[in-house]
Amino acid sequence: MRIDILTVVPKLLESPFNHSILQRAKDKGLVEINVHNIRDYSTNKQKNVDDYQYGGGAGMVMTIQPIADCIDKLKSERDYDEIIYMTPDGDILDQKMANSLSLLNNVIILCGHYKGVDERVRQLYITKEISIGSYVLSGGELGAAVFVDSIVRLIPGVLNDETSALTDCFQDNLLSPPVYTRPAEYKGLKVPDVLLSGDFKKIEEYRDQTAYERTKERRPDLLDE
Ligand code: ADE
Repeated sequence: MRIDILTVVPKLLESPFNHSILQRAKDKGLVEINVHNIRDYSTNKQKNVDDYQYGGGAGMVMTIQPIADCIDKLKSERDYDEIIYMTPDGDILDQKMANSLSLLNNVIILCGHYKGVDERVRQLYITKEISIGSYVLSGGELGAAVFVDSIVRLIPGVLNDETSALTDCFQDNLLSPPVYTRPAEYKGLKVPDVLLSGDFKKIEEYRDQTAYERTKERRPDLLDE
């Protein structure tokens, strides 16, 4: 998978992809992530990337020209499956969406800033709009980092234990069961006996049961889906 991220604050994206699973995915050649500074594409002397809103009102709007030039350049080099805009009014990211978007080959992600992008960028270029939740961030970058993490970990070969993405929370509309490691007792709190029993059938039943109970208690909406 190749991911091209367009931003006016590239520094915000310097670290999230350089550690842990994401770094390993890059090292294995399973994903390539390129961050593009939209300002580098501004043809304007001051390298502006935003301007006042038509009709007045507080807040600046990201202009078309540098975004269009950057996307046009990328599109002239390869085909893209999706051009995604990170925005609070997009479709809300969930595991199902992450599963399907993890199958993409080439994707552009545009991070919004200020009051957002000129509507015509959305009309002309954007094929999908994603929100990471019903709250407003200062820009799309942190949302893009969350989204990229959620899809890259699902690419086959990225996780060491192939089954571990399949047993993730949400994969079957269930939250994860509680997990324990050593010591078997801490401040009087004991690990459930069944987990120490070595009886794998019973352990599986325990995990299914506790995952269900936890989902029913915390996220009953998932059980209705
Ligand atoms: N930009 C600002 N808020 C956002 C959100 N909730 N999701 C994605 N991008 C955003």
